[in-house]
Amino acid sequence: MPDLRFDDRVAVVTGGGRGLGRAYALLLASRGAKVVVNDPGVRQNGDASDEAPAASVVQEIKAAGGEAIANTDSVATPEGGAAIVRTAIDAFGRIDILIHNAGIVRNVPLKELSSADFDAVLDVHLRGGFNVLQPAFARMCAAGYGRIVMTASIGGIYGSLNVAGYCAGKGGLLGLTYAAAAEGQDCGVRANAILPAAVTRLSEGMDVSAFPPMEPDQVAPAVAYLAHESCAMSGEMLVSAAGRVAKAYTAESPGVFLPSWTIEEIAERMPEIDDRSNPVVFPVVPNGKGAHLGYSFERARKGA
Ligand code: NAI
Repeated sequence: MPDLRFDDRVAVVTGGGRGLGRAYALLLASRGAKVVVNDPGVRQNGDASDEAPAASVVQEIKAAGGEAIANTDSVATPEGGAAIVRTAIDAFGRIDILIHNAGIVRNVPLKELSSADFDAVLDVHLRGGFNVLQPAFARMCAAGYGRIVMTASIGGIYGSLNVAGYCAGKGGLLGLTYAAAAEGQDCGVRANAILPAAVTRLSEGMDVSAFPPMEPDQVAPAVAYLAHESCAMSGEMLVSAAGRVAKAYTAESPGVFLPSWTIEEIAERMPEIDDRSNPVVFPVVPNGKGAHLGYSFERARKGA
């Protein structure tokens, strides 16, 4: 296969100054993309700020012969999101690729979690996702082309301990990704989620001594694939963890039809309701919601 390149494409990578985002920015730039490296350089919990991480990634890209510009706005406000997208337009005239990767974490058990900590995490992951996605999506639709990669997490589909805000934000980002995939169909915009895993600053505090190799560089090709014009999929979840690349997807049991139910019937028939031997899957694109409803309606029509 010839190299998949990004010549003449403009990419925005939020949180591109460190960890996974840095690896994405470097890979895209090495394949010809012009990259906006967005990063206010905050601590793991979102406090403070530092211009150095974004600037140093831009320097690395330029030293290797690539094109990049730093932006240190926060994704956490609508103004910040708009300014990040505007940087791409002002510097390079367009935006083709948005990788929303910015992230923070606050480790607090749910019993003690304050709404301030919950909000701070949601502001970066979920509202931050909207704050950059919305202006980027509008421009991409107008241009008839776009590739969007939103960063979810296994925490968003399986849950995790002591990071309820993080799990909620990541789960919410999946819904946002699917909405963009559904609305992007008519205007050449594809949106997918990456569920990455790598040892980075975000994993500080975890015992990673027994982990297999988990470097950001191992994840970057999957994200670059989702960002490439040849990527036909949309509304999907791609997993990349410790060298394993896989699809995650939502499935339903076929379920049981009755025209009306009692609580007792739900209890009695739960083994059948929960029979996962023949799962049904309704891909988001072209019309997962319609396919889901159509399947239920068909069962009702058949009365079985
Ligand atoms: P990292 O801490 O190394 O990098 C995250 C970057 O996001 C930092 O440079 C930080 O300054 C930036 N950032 C934080 N708040 C921001 C804001 N308001 N606006 C713009 N940038 C902001 O972490 P890592 O591991 O590289 O994480 C990248 C993404 O991948 C995050 O969304 C994270 O939740 C997600 N992820 C990471 C996993 C892992 O195993 N490392 C697992 C699952 C998801």
